[in-house]
Amino acid sequence: MTKTILVTGGAGFIGSNFVLRERMRDNRVVNLDLLTYAGNLLNLGELNDDAGHIFVQGDIRDRELVRKLLKGYQPDAVVNFAAESHVDRSIDSPESFVQTNIVGTYHLLDEAREYWQRLAAERRDRFRFLHVSTDEVYGSLGPLEPAFTEDTPYSPNSPYSASKASSDHLVRAYFHTYGVPALITNCSNNYGPRQFPEKLAPLMVLNAMQGKPLPIYGDGLNVRDWLFVDDHCDALNLALEKGKPGETYNIGGRCEKTNLEIVNTLCALLDEMAPDSAYVPHCSLITFVKDRPGHDRRYAIDCSKICGELGWSPKETFESGMRKTIRWYLDNPQWVDSIKTGAYRGWILKQYG
Ligand code: NAD
Ligand code: TYD
Repeated sequence: MTKTILVTGGAGFIGSNFVLRERMRDNRVVNLDLLTYAGNLLNLGELNDDAGHIFVQGDIRDRELVRKLLKGYQPDAVVNFAAESHVDRSIDSPESFVQTNIVGTYHLLDEAREYWQRLAAERRDRFRFLHVSTDEVYGSLGPLEPAFTEDTPYSPNSPYSASKASSDHLVRAYFHTYGVPALITNCSNNYGPRQFPEKLAPLMVLNAMQGKPLPIYGDGLNVRDWLFVDDHCDALNLALEKGKPGETYNIGGRCEKTNLEIVNTLCALLDEMAPDSAYVPHCSLITFVKDRPGHDRRYAIDCSKICGELGWSPKETFESGMRKTIRWYLDNPQWVDSIKTGAYRGWILKQYG
């Protein structure tokens, strides 16, 4: 049976990829997004004439609006992507992270609780609140420490991860206190089409395409686990369909790599996919810059729970996923131009000088 899903933050990177996939599954999507610098309606251009996608510009902190949408569209699930999501921006100015990630999640959650409590019994049993979070809440690992499991204690180190950790605790508390059928997913670093080029992968792809320096923080040996966005969206769909309320699921790509490995692979792929570029070999653009304050050394995800219990596994290798990603950026110059606004240029200048 198809569902109606209230998606928040569905004009951002992961949210828009999720919305597109849910429409392919014929689920109706009500998409609430504030359209901050990170939200872009071009991400959803394919759905312009699609009556099954209802876009609403607004804030998850606006309780009246959230209430109206819940009452009006009677969703079977809420999936919360809306967030400030960039660590470097959270170091520069944490206020909006507290506002959206903590206060916003609280308001959304509390409105969802009131809505859920009034549903008829059968619909109340089926309702789900899925909160999309990050592996960064678990803190930083040493080189030989085992990967994060769902039982790893929270130990966030940046204003971003601290705000996500706070929101996770609220979601958890709403399950335990009120019984709201909520689930939390903690995923690793996503990459793929439509990612705003402040994050590592798209920043490096776009800079390399334009012959600009590729700024690697510190020694470039920080490790992240890399997850292709479509694999992540499929895991979220499974968590909605088969996940158990009150549970947390870690989602990772089984792909631990240093930043230097990521950028070198990406440059080699670009050499091959854009052989006429004036900047081949693109790796000659690599530049080491000042490290990020409090830079977490290593994240690694143990995703055996979602693999074993829900039957999910990542389909893409880093190379196959990155090929799709680079192809998308090469094929969408209009999207690339659209994000090069004054605000984006301002951020790049502030961050990299
Ligand atoms: P993004 O920054 O690309 O998109 C965030 C979206 O939320 C934007 O469209 C923005 O307009 C919207 N938004 C911001 N504040 C809002 C508000 N107050 N009300 C309504 N909408 C608002 O983020 P993303 O990379 O797509 O991440 C989505 C979620 O996944 C976030 O919660 C993030 O913490 C989590 N996550 C992301 C990654 C990653 O690698 N990108 C990894 C782990 C977890
Ligand atoms: P990022 O994409 O910001 O994700 P996160 O900090 O949430 O993991 O960064 C990924 C890694 O890449 C992280 O170790 C910081 C590093 N990095 C750089 O070396 N240079 C850059 O310009 C950026 C944006 C990130």
